[in-house]
Amino acid sequence: MKIIGGIPMKGTISAQGAKNAALPVMAAAILLKGKRLKINRVPNLLDVVTMADLLRSLGAEVHFKDHEMEISTPGEISWETPPDLVRKMRASSLVLGPLLARCGKAVMPLPGGCSIGSRPIDLHLKGLTRMGASIELVHGAVHARADGLKGCRIYLDFPSVGATENLMMAAVFARGETILENTAREPEIFNLVESLRSMGAFIEADGTGVVRIQGVDDLENATANIIPDRVEASTYILAGAATNGEVTVCDIIPNHIDSLLAKLEEAGASLTVEETSVTIHPSGRLKAVSLKTLPYPGFPTDLQPQVMVALCLAEGTSVVQESVFQSRFLHVSELNKMGAKIDIQSNSAIINGVECLTGADVLATDLRAGAALVLAGLAAHDTTYVHHLGHIFRGYENMEEKLRKIGANISILPSEEDFKGNSPLLRA
Ligand code: UD1
Repeated sequence: MKIIGGIPMKGTISAQGAKNAALPVMAAAILLKGKRLKINRVPNLLDVVTMADLLRSLGAEVHFKDHEMEISTPGEISWETPPDLVRKMRASSLVLGPLLARCGKAVMPLPGGCSIGSRPIDLHLKGLTRMGASIELVHGAVHARADGLKGCRIYLDFPSVGATENLMMAAVFARGETILENTAREPEIFNLVESLRSMGAFIEADGTGVVRIQGVDDLENATANIIPDRVEASTYILAGAATNGEVTVCDIIPNHIDSLLAKLEEAGASLTVEETSVTIHPSGRLKAVSLKTLPYPGFPTDLQPQVMVALCLAEGTSVVQESVFQSRFLHVSELNKMGAKIDIQSNSAIINGVECLTGADVLATDLRAGAALVLAGLAAHDTTYVHHLGHIFRGYENMEEKLRKIGANISILPSEEDFKGNSPLLRA
């Protein structure tokens, strides 16, 4: 992606449906037997296409057009997941719980995904074992079996998003009551709860980190609605912050991004928050602020790279502490190439604000790091080339068109265009 920077962004962008809500809701369709799930506001992303291919490989029929998806799951499905698809993204692990609940067995290679540190699935496996599954690791693949899962009490050592989702889905058909404690409380969790409820599951989740599920025998046809993507929306608000522009992001749920809005206000940004939109106004140079990433409602780790771009340009020294993922600082060396002054000390980035960034050739090492480099390119004074765009296509639909609409001078060069042309996006 070639970006000629230094232009303040100005205009309105509508948010896509949330990638991290759509993926687990799609996985939940595995629980249906001879029924269908309709899902509205599904973003057209590489990860969504990978999940659709994974469901097809198990025997489901998936139709996807104009952000509407229909998944029909037959009476019999396969319980063996293809390694090439699973290794493409970590969210593939979300099929483990529903497959085990539905088929009584599942084989799944350990998943891949962004290179942001060690991302084990031990909490998923520990929870499934508590529910009566026997689990073996054979040649890098999980082999799970259960002669009917049983309800029980499971305390998660960490409020893992994926483990909460997997265990909720596994518990839908378990005998009796499952009580999950210290669960994740991300908005995407409640989107899955609502979707499972609309399918006929009995789930109570009151936002305290405790989820109660009463097992049922079968589920029904249903329609699920995906919530707005809070990470995508926040990225575009930060495009306004980094370029001292005026950007409105609409079709969102502003309280899902409270932690970002609070930090931007603390840094001196001027914001207008309406019922379904947020506008960032030109605010001059922001002041340094410090933050720590935490599970929701704390500051999201998925926004840490992007907020760092705004802080690189703020006046003073900011400290950003990453407490959710190890080694999620791969973007720092790339930002430093663009003139940022960031030092890493253990799990903290010490950012000394500079007045401007300069264009450079940089590499997107993961999805959100890629988004951060695009923001840095928009703010930088000359031309930036961001390579390895495939990471960005995993999570941002039409990013270049959306940014162009608010004034960015941005283009995808032929080599990356080729990549995009060959990507499964066009098959969606
Ligand atoms: C989800 C999001 C991802 C986001 C992350 C944290 C999706 C598809 N992805 O990922 O974008 O960055 O939440 O908000 O929704 N952990 C373990 N053992 C486990 C599970 C997790 O140690 O069994 C650790 C992970 O290594 C990581 C931390 O817990 O350090 C958070 O992981 P988790 O909340 O599970 O994230 P994901 O569900 O993978």
